[in-house]
Amino acid sequence: MQDIQRTSEYQAREVFSRLPAGRVGEQDRKYMNEVLDAGFGNSDRCDMNVRFEKALAEKFSAKYAVTCANGTVSLHACLAAAGAGPGDEVIVPSLTAAATATSVVYCGAVPVFADISPDTFTMDPEDVRRKVTPHTKAIIPVSLYGLACDMDPIMEIAREYDLTVIEDNAQCYLGTYKGQPVGAIGHASSWSFQGSKHMTTGGDGGAVTCSDREYMKRIKRVMGFGYPTIEAESDAPRTVPRDVRQDRDFRRHPTFGYNFRMPVTSAALGLAQLERLEDLVEARRIIAGLYEDAAGDVPWLIRQKVPEGYGHSWWAYVCRVDEQMLGADWRTFRKKFIEFGGDGLYSAWYPVHLEPTFLRMNFYGDAYRAPNFHPLYKGNVKSYSRGDCPVCEEVQRTLVQFKTSFQDYDTAVQQAEALKKTVEYFS
Ligand SMILES: Cc1ncc(COP(=O)(O)O)c(C=O)c1O
Repeated sequence: MQDIQRTSEYQAREVFSRLPAGRVGEQDRKYMNEVLDAGFGNSDRCDMNVRFEKALAEKFSAKYAVTCANGTVSLHACLAAAGAGPGDEVIVPSLTAAATATSVVYCGAVPVFADISPDTFTMDPEDVRRKVTPHTKAIIPVSLYGLACDMDPIMEIAREYDLTVIEDNAQCYLGTYKGQPVGAIGHASSWSFQGSKHMTTGGDGGAVTCSDREYMKRIKRVMGFGYPTIEAESDAPRTVPRDVRQDRDFRRHPTFGYNFRMPVTSAALGLAQLERLEDLVEARRIIAGLYEDAAGDVPWLIRQKVPEGYGHSWWAYVCRVDEQMLGADWRTFRKKFIEFGGDGLYSAWYPVHLEPTFLRMNFYGDAYRAPNFHPLYKGNVKSYSRGDCPVCEEVQRTLVQFKTSFQDYDTAVQQAEALKKTVEYFS
């Protein structure tokens, strides 16, 4: 069993009582009204993105933060700003949301899949080391389900081979690794505010935090059309004088960029959600504790291991089901959980390298146009197939993901009760 710090029912109810219904509270309305009252011009009239970015940087222990449209383009911009492109490889875990890998393809680089640890389900640093080649440009460790990767060896590999490490913390808010806050270990960290995440900016949204001024400037310029007026600081004074900026000979695109910006209305919601992030994370920890108690100590439910010194943020509560010990299969387990009132239990994502689009490599239409066949690419990854990441391929089939996103305590208790009944049924 995991050592999840328990909270009394009274304290738990207190935490949940601070979470507003529908995830929209007074602060959300206040900031949204500020935006609406200011009206819309060519630019943000109440500095909402700047305010959100400054708060994000502070909360995630970084010098700089930038908001963007989602947690996929945030990865894309970090990779592009690190120089990842045709000819390069980027190492990603095989168990993750596909966005981690597709962002590599968006840059024209080749995703190389590293296997996972069978205990923590996160990227295995030893396999990362095996997969480094002279073509490797970056590594994207994913804090899966809210648990950090083993970052020390990953950073060591990066130092040895001069690689950029982009933490994908879409699922990990306020997590820690050996006392360090998640997000402040790699060269940059990517965040997602999509609706299933601990905090949301109203459906979609993302951010990058980073403490390297030059790297952040490049990331922000990739996100903002390459404008030379963009600096790492959110509230940087304009370094290009108005007469220069407004002149007919002013060139706006010394470097290439996209429009990955976050709308100001989303920033208003994000700022409000960030202010209650501790409660949002605490509520998920409480729910994980309820599941933990409900699961008891049956040997066929094998928990995601939380190594000593790691602070899990419980985006989901995840276990392996040992079908042999259970005496039933994964689908029967899921069916029973739902019959006992469980809320649609999910499997883990299919191993990304085995998703049809990766098997077919039809990223840009035909496989021969894939980054793997670009003339600049001199590496050996010419196909993806079963056997590339054997641990992931085996473990993924056994995983059950329980939701921790309930915003009221009674629903959470009822869900844990459904798990308890399921465990009793099979015991
Ligand atoms: C690990 C991981 N990376 C990246 C993403 C992509 O984020 P978004 O949906 O905001 O684009 C997600 C979630 O959706 C995710 O879970």
